[in-house]
Amino acid sequence: TILILDFGSQTVQYSHLITRRCREHNVYAELMPCTTKLQDVNFKPKGIILSGSPYSVYDEGSPHVDPAVFDLGVPILGICYGLQEIAWNLAGEVSKCDHREYGPADIIINKFGNGAVDALFEGFGEEMRVWMSHGDQLSKPPPDFHVIGHTRTAPYAALAHNSKPLYGIQFHPEVTHSPNGKAVIGRFILNICSCRQNWTMEEFIGKEIARIREICGPKGRVIGAVSGGVDSTVAAKLMHEAIGDRFHAIMVDNGVLRLNEAQQVDVMLNKDLGVNLTVVDASELFLSRLAGIEDPEQKRRAAEEEEKGAEAKGRVEWLLQGTLYPDVIESISFKGPSATIKTHHNVGGLLKDMKLKLIEPLRELFKDEVRALGRLLSIPAQLVGRHPFPGPGLAIRILGPVTRDQVKILQLADNIYIEEIRKAGLYDQIAQAFAVLLPVKAVGVMGDQRTYEQVIALRAVQSEDFMTADWFSFPADVLRRISSRITNEVAGINRVTYDISSKPPATVEWL
Ligand code: XMP
Repeated sequence: TILILDFGSQTVQYSHLITRRCREHNVYAELMPCTTKLQDVNFKPKGIILSGSPYSVYDEGSPHVDPAVFDLGVPILGICYGLQEIAWNLAGEVSKCDHREYGPADIIINKFGNGAVDALFEGFGEEMRVWMSHGDQLSKPPPDFHVIGHTRTAPYAALAHNSKPLYGIQFHPEVTHSPNGKAVIGRFILNICSCRQNWTMEEFIGKEIARIREICGPKGRVIGAVSGGVDSTVAAKLMHEAIGDRFHAIMVDNGVLRLNEAQQVDVMLNKDLGVNLTVVDASELFLSRLAGIEDPEQKRRAAEEEEKGAEAKGRVEWLLQGTLYPDVIESISFKGPSATIKTHHNVGGLLKDMKLKLIEPLRELFKDEVRALGRLLSIPAQLVGRHPFPGPGLAIRILGPVTRDQVKILQLADNIYIEEIRKAGLYDQIAQAFAVLLPVKAVGVMGDQRTYEQVIALRAVQSEDFMTADWFSFPADVLRRISSRITNEVAGINRVTYDISSKPPATVEWL
């Protein structure tokens, strides 16, 4: 396992990418806040990576690592701020650049006297393109370090210790703009840390099923809410594989699901996947709790509390949660910069008096890993490829008051939108598509009558991991068909707009 310590690199985006890159080499990596004390790390890391950060090392209140990491004897790679952190700890010097360096740069790889290069940069030739994003840089290396790479403006762009496996690089190998970046991370974790490449989904299934059986014991019963999404379906199927009918799935129809969702999930789980499922219609309860709430965080809480209440009514010990690793990461907060962007439904915020113990079999996985797992568990391709759908459902896509009528309007519009995307063969090119009901009315004309009705915004994004996202470029005729169907078939809508914002600065959802 590689331990990645996060210094709050741009709302943890970069640290998140470092974690992914390690796993793409089939090496398990875990991200923790930089303030983690070594005694609280419950595994023995084979290597440590220190992430970037928006701070300057000398700033008051800037984050620093437990100095004990430097005495562990395991290899350490500092990236950007991580390099400066090594210098700060080991008596080097850091100073401000004249101006922030952001963008591509060429690293010239230093050669030793015998013509060889450092193991970190082996096989990349003499020079390589990398991505820089920093305001500070090293002005003096710490004693006993030597330079292994430099650029025209940064004489100490990459350093290594003379005798210990300590490395620091100024550039960001985790971003795809550094073409050899993933390979640099590979050199570190494979050649320098000697990690074994045993992180695969086949291995994961076996281990996780054994772990579930062990923690549940021979009699333990588990319930879990399913939503029809990939995560909860994969989690449910995994539980079923592990403990059979001692797992019982519950689908709570909270009144803010997509059109006919509960019926479809009922058929899929009970008939196709053989998982015990009960559908509970709790739409009255939910919608009455949601009535009058406009604040997004409050909407999330209301949806969440009612759901947990409904779940806790069985005679069971365990509650299955489909929490994924990005939810866990986004909820890691140390001070400000990596503080949670939004309260995610799956992490934290559970009812305090809930007696059920949590079981989270997907907690270590990224979304693409969950999909791979789903395929191995023989879950139908159309489901495995389904776009994510947020726990609080359509409640966070109705920007004004949530009522049954508003839900119906959004369900119909969303259904037309997704249907047309599928018909056009575009569904799999899009990471997430959905409709949003805006809290404004606009003027229109129908026949010779003026209308004054609501507006639907369509959102479709492409994204690797939802930490960043770009809006999808639809062919105009597809948008035209969608718009015309929605305004014709959905009473109460006279205008359709398409959201052309990327994340950042926008988020995927509107709330
Ligand atoms: P944002 O809007 O944060 O969305 O850019 C990123 C991904 O997270 C989903 N999302 C949520 N999922 N509960 C969830 O279960 C939530 O409260 C929530 N908010 C956003 C969103 O649909 C997208 O896939």
